[in-house]
Amino acid sequence: MRAYDLILKKRNGYALDRAEIDYIISGYVDGSIPDYQMAAMAMAIYFRGMNKEEALSLTEAMVNSGDTISLSPIPGTKVDKHSTGGVGDTTTLVLAPLVAAAGAPVAKLSGRGLGHTGGTLDKLESIPGFKTELTMEELINAVREVGVAVAGQTGNLVPADKMLYALRDVTATVDSLPLIAGSIMSKKIAAGADALVLDVKSGDGAFLKELSQARELAKMMVDIGNGAGRRTMAVITSMDQPLGRAVGNAIEIEEAILTLRGEGPPDLEELCLVLGGWMLKLAGRASEPDEGKLILKKCIENGEALEKFKDLIRYQSGNEAVVDNLSLLPRADEQLEVKSEFSGYVSRLQAEKIGIAAMTLGAGRVTKDSSIDPAAGLTVEKKIGEKVEQGGTLATIFFKQGTDPGTVQNAVKMIRDAYEIGNSKVDEPDLILDYIEGDGQGNE
Ligand code: URA
Ligand code: CA
Repeated sequence: MRAYDLILKKRNGYALDRAEIDYIISGYVDGSIPDYQMAAMAMAIYFRGMNKEEALSLTEAMVNSGDTISLSPIPGTKVDKHSTGGVGDTTTLVLAPLVAAAGAPVAKLSGRGLGHTGGTLDKLESIPGFKTELTMEELINAVREVGVAVAGQTGNLVPADKMLYALRDVTATVDSLPLIAGSIMSKKIAAGADALVLDVKSGDGAFLKELSQARELAKMMVDIGNGAGRRTMAVITSMDQPLGRAVGNAIEIEEAILTLRGEGPPDLEELCLVLGGWMLKLAGRASEPDEGKLILKKCIENGEALEKFKDLIRYQSGNEAVVDNLSLLPRADEQLEVKSEFSGYVSRLQAEKIGIAAMTLGAGRVTKDSSIDPAAGLTVEKKIGEKVEQGGTLATIFFKQGTDPGTVQNAVKMIRDAYEIGNSKVDEPDLILDYIEGDGQGNE
């Protein structure tokens, strides 16, 4: 086999078989296939796409490039969720303890935030003492003992993705659906869960703005997951505005705790119940997602979800007293209300701009090595469809004393730019846009 012939074959629109895809990926990882040939192959894939079999072969070849995690010492069906990235997306913080409280074990490997989307590990580390670095053995023991753990990646999972992602980033081949699907699914499959619920975001604040594209990506990932023997489904959800009200680290922990108490923002609670309901169904803990939702509601009402969050925090060395006393979380020195210049109804609220404003205040990382301020961030006080008066508060920002006034003014300007205020009332956008199940058929 020669890389040249395989690039030519893909360039001319033919499907590659499993052995050919294995050859390309293993050759790229061991250095026998150079960057320039892999770059040409990525571009050929970008233009020609991949069929279902090719996408599965690509994903499995990527999984096989490094370590894989076996969660088999943990009894039961281990269920995971993945979101394609949103702004102020507090769902993992709520779902991990909530689903575990309903009896489904959750062993979650999570990441740090880069750019305008926050990472779950950064959020958890705003809890005093919380440790996210667990060995594989510690992670498994935690899940065996308390039913849930959330930790950073250990081991060398999917090195092919690290190499390929860096290459795609500089060759204009990031936004190829099979390459995205292979990238995401290889990491989830290597992380060992038996069942997987995908939250594929669509809209203003998502990297796939068009619903049709989100659907196509979701279908491809669902087919890959099921093809690889993991029960997988996807919910397509709107990212036309930030989820919930809090965007930051400590304030999203606070929002998660409120949601686990049943006092959270309705959109965040609804999304958690929908995703969690499906997680329970795939884990065999509920016969239908709606039954799963009812089980989860009960776990919120009877306090078990909140207790499970305390167990998780305590087991990972954090101060679980934060759950009953929110003032133990880091607090910002300074806060400022961003006022509306107009009266009317919020007609648009661009999530990405809100995320960038929170990042520049210190809640996120501008580069991979920047440090974050756990107390920094913002709360959106008005969402799409809500009425606002001139001089009324759109958002409140939180930051450190001594923050450069120019930085604060830029954040204020960016938040004002994120809002569009119109004269007529606009309906709140639908949160759940579609469901994609194992046969790949969408049903509204
Ligand atoms: N997220 C990933 O992990 N990979 C992609 O290619 C795109 C988004
Ligand atoms: Ca939020």
